[in-house]
Amino acid sequence: MIVSGSASQVLAAELAAELDEPLASVEYERFPDGEVMASAPGFEDDRAIVVGSTVSSDAHLELLQLQDAVREWGAEEVVTILPYMGYARQDQAFETGQPVSARAVARALSPGTDRVMTVNPHEEAVCDFFDVPAESVDGAGRLAEPLPDDLHDPVFLSPDSGAIDIAETVKTSYGTGTADYFEKVRHSSTEVELTPSDTDVSGRDVVVTDDIIATGSTMSGAVEILHEREASRVFVTCVHPMLAADAYTKLSRAGVETVYGTDTIERAVSEVSVAPKLADAL
Ligand code: R5P
Repeated sequence: MIVSGSASQVLAAELAAELDEPLASVEYERFPDGEVMASAPGFEDDRAIVVGSTVSSDAHLELLQLQDAVREWGAEEVVTILPYMGYARQDQAFETGQPVSARAVARALSPGTDRVMTVNPHEEAVCDFFDVPAESVDGAGRLAEPLPDDLHDPVFLSPDSGAIDIAETVKTSYGTGTADYFEKVRHSSTEVELTPSDTDVSGRDVVVTDDIIATGSTMSGAVEILHEREASRVFVTCVHPMLAADAYTKLSRAGVETVYGTDTIERAVSEVSVAPKLADAL
């Protein structure tokens, strides 16, 4: 049975359809003191696939509760899917006294599950923080699907060298074009400095690809530079369309043509489902 956290209901339904497995009914409550309770009334199966992107602290709590509920009501095997793993970018203690938050949340989620799957974590190594087998699935392969068929001499560009694999994957799926990357230095959570490559983008369509759009600072900076360099249309696509705060407005003001993402984080731009990839990996 597929059991959905409140932030991943569309993806959980897609996954249930892909696997031809029942979708459990779920309830999400909030008490007057602020505490949450996620439950799966009527859950009845030997195997539970709990699906929940941990986009907030409440979403983390819900996932722990759903893991607990399905065990309580009979699941012998629990698979936990974190389509988007929150806190994964805090994968190191960067200054004295800081926690390794990705490790802390992975350890908290491990006792309630037999296996973990996630999608394009910022660093693959976060899978090692779980105390149970954990693997990552590549959701980038389908990002080319919603792109227009008529891209002109396209460049698939990652805003830093770390995301070049995603640019290569999208280029290969699209079937034509070149892959390239900018250099990026981050000065603060909302300030990034991008250095473009020598590639001539003038008159060409550009697709900027990344694992996540969080504040949109990286992507909007890239879009601005590409327009300064006289690119034709600039599209942006990512696996995790977090689009926090004013990210979408920043991208629009920078002159982006269209923003695309997957349903690891359910947003208006979630054009592509990672359900088939998850179903294959299960
Ligand atoms: C960092 O290296 C990631 O790949 C993303 O580029 C980054 O997290 C995006 O963050 P933001 O949208 O806040 O610039």
